[in-house]
Amino acid sequence: MHRPEFPLPAVLAHRCGGTLAPENTLAGLAAAAANGCRGVEFDVMLSGSASPVLIHDETLERTTNGYGPVAHTSDDALFALDAGSWFDPRFAGEPVPCLDLAAARCQALGLAVNLEIKPSHGTDAETSERVVRRARTLWAAAPDAVLLSSFSERALEIAASLAPGLRRGLLVGAVPPDWLARCRRLRVAALHADHRHLDADCVAAARAAGLWVVTYTVNDPGRAGTLFDWGVDCVITDRPDIVRAPRR
Ligand code: G3P
Ligand code: MG
Repeated sequence: MHRPEFPLPAVLAHRCGGTLAPENTLAGLAAAAANGCRGVEFDVMLSGSASPVLIHDETLERTTNGYGPVAHTSDDALFALDAGSWFDPRFAGEPVPCLDLAAARCQALGLAVNLEIKPSHGTDAETSERVVRRARTLWAAAPDAVLLSSFSERALEIAASLAPGLRRGLLVGAVPPDWLARCRRLRVAALHADHRHLDADCVAAARAAGLWVVTYTVNDPGRAGTLFDWGVDCVITDRPDIVRAPRR
């Protein structure tokens, strides 16, 4: 089956800058770019004001100085939080970015994006609708520079209908036995799997089916080399300072 060239860089920094900066922040984007990275992955969910924002957890405690669910926090309250100090006092005052700001910064830094749609519990449809509509506008001039992904199949269905011109990937942990049927039904171009559950045969089968294979979270350069040798198209890493794309 014809397999077009993977449109993003072969190495993406996880949650903006991996372990180089607080996750899902503009500082992370800067750190990724400063370390020679040309692409990033980040997580997007809706604030209590229904704005797409970069954050991983459904609650604020781990990565900000706030408390409670992101989905119950207004933009005014959310954007006033400190999302940097928990990581290092050097990043004190680093805000939770909105998607618009992150997209603009990525475009300014020349970073391609794997945008993970990360709905809070029970908000898959609304999150996907709002995030995908925004992404469609933000990357209208450069749709090849963004790849949408989600663990939520509902989110991917909505993305396919609202933005068929933006490519999508199905996120899984372990690769399920019916991975190909799911990918076909969802009309995704890529399978994104936890590298600990991948093997060479699985990568070969996905490639033979015409899919791109993206894997996470690969922090050891030797392991990344093995995965690339198997034919993986892209690794997502917390260590964009040491994990490098293969010379092809
Ligand atoms: O997209 C790959 C990876 O980010 C998925 O896991 O929990 O870090 O969003 P998580
Ligand atoms: Mg993610």
